[in-house]
Amino acid sequence: MMTKEFGKTGRSVTEIGMGTYYDKPWIRVAKHGWSMGARTKIKALRAGLDGGIKLVDTAEAYYTEPFVAKAMKGRKRDDLFIATKVWLDHLHHDDLVTALAKSLERLELSYVDLYQIHFPNGSVPLKETMGAMEEMMDKGKIRSIGVSNFSLDQMIEAGSALAKSEISSAQVNYSLIHRKFEKDIIPYCQQNKIAVLAYYPLGHGILTKPTPKMEEVCRRNAKTPAQVALNWLVSKPSVFAIPRASRPSHVIENLGGSDWRLSESDRAELEKEFPIDGVQPASKS
Ligand SMILES: NC(=O)c1ccc[n+]([C@@H]2O[C@H](COP(=O)([O-])OP(=O)(O)OC[C@H]3O[C@@H](n4cnc5c(N)ncnc54)[C@H](OP(=O)(O)O)[C@@H]3O)[C@@H](O)[C@H]2O)c1
Repeated sequence: MMTKEFGKTGRSVTEIGMGTYYDKPWIRVAKHGWSMGARTKIKALRAGLDGGIKLVDTAEAYYTEPFVAKAMKGRKRDDLFIATKVWLDHLHHDDLVTALAKSLERLELSYVDLYQIHFPNGSVPLKETMGAMEEMMDKGKIRSIGVSNFSLDQMIEAGSALAKSEISSAQVNYSLIHRKFEKDIIPYCQQNKIAVLAYYPLGHGILTKPTPKMEEVCRRNAKTPAQVALNWLVSKPSVFAIPRASRPSHVIENLGGSDWRLSESDRAELEKEFPIDGVQPASKS
């Protein structure tokens, strides 16, 4: 699996990771302590780690940190890049410190490689949140700091609120069918060596049902639609894709989104088919 440098962390991280958000209905049930399909989900995570993936994205709000802990068992901690997120209700200093302690407990870790603010919360001063983040960094509980669902202006403001470190990553909805951040956040991140974590990289599954044009690209490269959609993302500088990992067979297929590159002409064809401001083209099914 190909790797690239994650922001300015000095860490080389696999360009494809695994996301662990399993949708709202699943979370509603998980909140009450039921973990439907836990065995398969943990198996899927293990299949990805066995296949060479080092990057796993979770969040306190996903109720999946214990799955990540189970999947990591018996593996070398330093090889992995584990990212979690603090929910927007926990951005005051003491709340963040407590939320991180609970995440670390659920993950059975002493530190996370990346701690991200899940969503911005205008009612909490960024200085306070970032002060708490840096304090946790000084204590060795966080290796790097990221934001998620921030606009470009919010991200720049968040960076300015840090006293001695920098924003390492921005997590955004980014795929062939959602390219609007190519107008601002993506180039800003690329110019400033900030990693982009592309969530919904398969358009929440839509891109696994190809349009006839996309199907031609798949045929030419002998790859599946998911592999083509992921490769289009990760061939961009600074971009990492985090497709959801809930089924082992899907995770194994998604490993094949790396270790090769679409040609310039195939990329151009895909971008014509899925323009930045375009209406989503119809898939075959
Ligand atoms: N920061 C945020 O606010 C935020 C928001 C949303 C998501 N995320 C992160 O991004 C991750 C990815 O988002 P997502 O899971 O909703 O969207 P996604 O990865 O774009 O799509 C997931 C859907 O595609 C299916 N799929 C995956 N691989 C496939 C394959 N090879 N062939 C056919 N179908 C395939 C999945 O099915 P199966 O589940 O059956 O495998 C699922 O239905 C989340 O898990 C989470 O970590 C972050």
